[in-house]
Amino acid sequence: MKINLSNIKKAKKLLDKNDCVAIPTETVYGLAGNAYSDQACKKIFKLKKRPKYNPLIVHYYDLESLKKDCHLNKNFFLLFKRFSPGPITFVLNLKKNSNISIFANNNKSSLAVRFPKHPIARCLLKKLGYPLAAPSANLSSKVSAVSTADVEEDFGKKIKYILDGGKSNVGVESTIIDLRKKPKILRLGGLEISIIKKILKKNMKVDINPMKISSPGQSKLHYSPGLPIRLNAKKIKDNEAFLCIKKMKQKKKNYFYLSKKGSLKEAAKNLYSTLRKIKKSEFDTIAVSKIPDIGLGKTINDRLKRASKY
Ligand code: TXA
Ligand code: MG
Repeated sequence: MKINLSNIKKAKKLLDKNDCVAIPTETVYGLAGNAYSDQACKKIFKLKKRPKYNPLIVHYYDLESLKKDCHLNKNFFLLFKRFSPGPITFVLNLKKNSNISIFANNNKSSLAVRFPKHPIARCLLKKLGYPLAAPSANLSSKVSAVSTADVEEDFGKKIKYILDGGKSNVGVESTIIDLRKKPKILRLGGLEISIIKKILKKNMKVDINPMKISSPGQSKLHYSPGLPIRLNAKKIKDNEAFLCIKKMKQKKKNYFYLSKKGSLKEAAKNLYSTLRKIKKSEFDTIAVSKIPDIGLGKTINDRLKRASKY
């Protein structure tokens, strides 16, 4: 996608004034504000109706800018070199003298940081003198947004500007890894954990359903399309939408597929937009056929499982 510099300028102008702007990233759209500004961070929480205890991810352009705010370590450098920019978020120790607003991370001693790959997000970050705090640009506990139309659906005119970057390529949120001690996965996401394991060459904990919620986005009621969901369904009930991993031979009005031939990458990309489409099509419930629990299929199943708690 071509970068339109006048659109970037428009976004920068609002962000410089501590306002919020929706930005495209390769995972999902973000609701962004200056991470150094109390006013901007408070505004993000208000717009998203997000509980104050749930900290935000901060988006950086490069390593130099991150060094001012966080303590970096060996595991971080290993993963950063291999996967950034890309769909991975690192939880690190915050420096005491960092400029991060206490409203961005609920005054915690840690900070979740990420380097988005989307060229428009990168171009914008490069031009700003500060990093961007940005949660996913959807209303709290609902399905994330992967296009400008999705963001508009949730926020209407409440957000002054949505920077258009086309449909998000990955389609699910970043994978979150806590690197403060022994590496620990806190959220499954757009980067497969088997690949992360290979780089770290050691055991890694996966703690995506902790008793004490360390990553509140992992709370049970999340990613809800607003309709009840049944998993591993074989038969469909009346007025139920049927969500399948690949295109079926029979063409029926209530059949929705995530990819043509069963590609998990394509399925992840289409997951949220398909759930939004079903919600708009007046079905009462959603039945989901079995999705392979490997690679990105694990992330898809994680989201559907949480959404099924609706
Ligand atoms: O792909 C993504 O990560 C997208 C795009 C916009 O970058 N962002 C995103 O943000 O998914 P959000 O706010 O919807 O999810 C961030 C998750 C939340 O579950 C939050 O609890 C967790 O990150 N988190 C934030 N700061 C944390 C911290 N210091 N320690 C542990 N978890 C943290
Ligand atoms: Mg979110």
